[in-house]
Amino acid sequence: MSFGTKLFRKQFPIFKHHPNLVYLDSAATTQKPKMVIEGITNFYEKENANIHRGIYDLAAQATQKYESVRQKVANFIGTKNPSEIVYTSGTTNAINIVANSFLLPRLEAGDEVLISAMEHHANMIPWQMACSVKGAKLRIIPIDKKGNLDIVAYRNMLSAKTKMVAVVHISNTLASINPIAEMIELAHQNNCPILIDGAQSTAHYPIDVDGLDCDFFTFSGHKLFGPTGIGVLYGKMAHLEAMTPYQLGGDMIRTVTYQTATFAPPPQKFEAGTTNIAGVIGLGYAIDFLNQFDKKELAKYVKKLGDYAREKLLTINDLSIIGEAKNKTGIVSFVLKNIHPHDVATFLGSANIAIRAGHHCTQPLMDFYEIPATSRASFSIYSNLEEIDFLVEEVKNIQAFFS
Ligand SMILES: Cc1ncc(COP(=O)(O)O)c(C=O)c1O
Repeated sequence: MSFGTKLFRKQFPIFKHHPNLVYLDSAATTQKPKMVIEGITNFYEKENANIHRGIYDLAAQATQKYESVRQKVANFIGTKNPSEIVYTSGTTNAINIVANSFLLPRLEAGDEVLISAMEHHANMIPWQMACSVKGAKLRIIPIDKKGNLDIVAYRNMLSAKTKMVAVVHISNTLASINPIAEMIELAHQNNCPILIDGAQSTAHYPIDVDGLDCDFFTFSGHKLFGPTGIGVLYGKMAHLEAMTPYQLGGDMIRTVTYQTATFAPPPQKFEAGTTNIAGVIGLGYAIDFLNQFDKKELAKYVKKLGDYAREKLLTINDLSIIGEAKNKTGIVSFVLKNIHPHDVATFLGSANIAIRAGHHCTQPLMDFYEIPATSRASFSIYSNLEEIDFLVEEVKNIQAFFS
């Protein structure tokens, strides 16, 4: 079944309920396939029980299913050890865990943490906070105006002072695909751990954390056709074992007295309280959904949509694209001269085209480009070229309207 076709889109009930919807906001969240929605409903209707607690059949089966998704996630991102998969509420939560439980205890005054100029706030503020608590310095790997990360500058910034690197795999604003394999290698030559923010890459790109040898990798279920409120922190076992737990409470302990507690091994030590069980189940179905496709084909299709959109949009006068890196994918940020992105999004919304307008949680990046915001169209496997043609026509209509 070909991506983007009418038949393919039938798997996504949202398009049945909104037949005229042109959904170009998949970088914010993807739409959900029927098998994910039905899988979650089925769990609540027929299989619901708390996990790791009860010994009755239903509880044992819920636990088994929850843990089998961990293996599925491990296979999906390329680690042999499912215990290196920690369920979180999303990318944001996963990065906060690493910043607080891994970096903070190791960070000292005068140390440095490197992030890139194109980071989402989720991969910026937790490091900012850790640095400010310890008197360390957050340094920014520069990018050029096209949105290419400056790998030479990065190499030169790494030093004995660098205690952590955190970088986005694919920029949610610029669509740049960063050279993470090289960045990981350089960080390791400097004995420095590195976290990769895979929020925008995991749905459409093959991920192999063992092959990459990254220390941490994070992603959100809702950006890969799964439910909201569930995400993953991958961490190398040695790191996870050395980390203090982030939250304390039930299900993450080994023994407790009134005075003391010892903790379960990873990943349980990071999953305090009743976790998002149905979210995990839904994530499992989302991975089943994605496993039907060749990830390389999927990446190729989404890139093709991005390239086509850029080419067509650039035929419009007074329109510029923000994000023209050499290596990029299916996210297109643009600005129209003298028309605010919020007006663009409102106008397009009235034509049933859903795009995002704003700073995309990359405010410092907006400052770098000296703009307040962009309009952003982002694509996924249910998107198609006709939708992009319609977007381009409507963008022209906006200009006609405002002139
Ligand atoms: C690159 C990037 N990092 C992190 C996040 C945060 O993800 P979440 O809101 O799912 O925690 C996003 C969300 O848009 C993102 O695009």
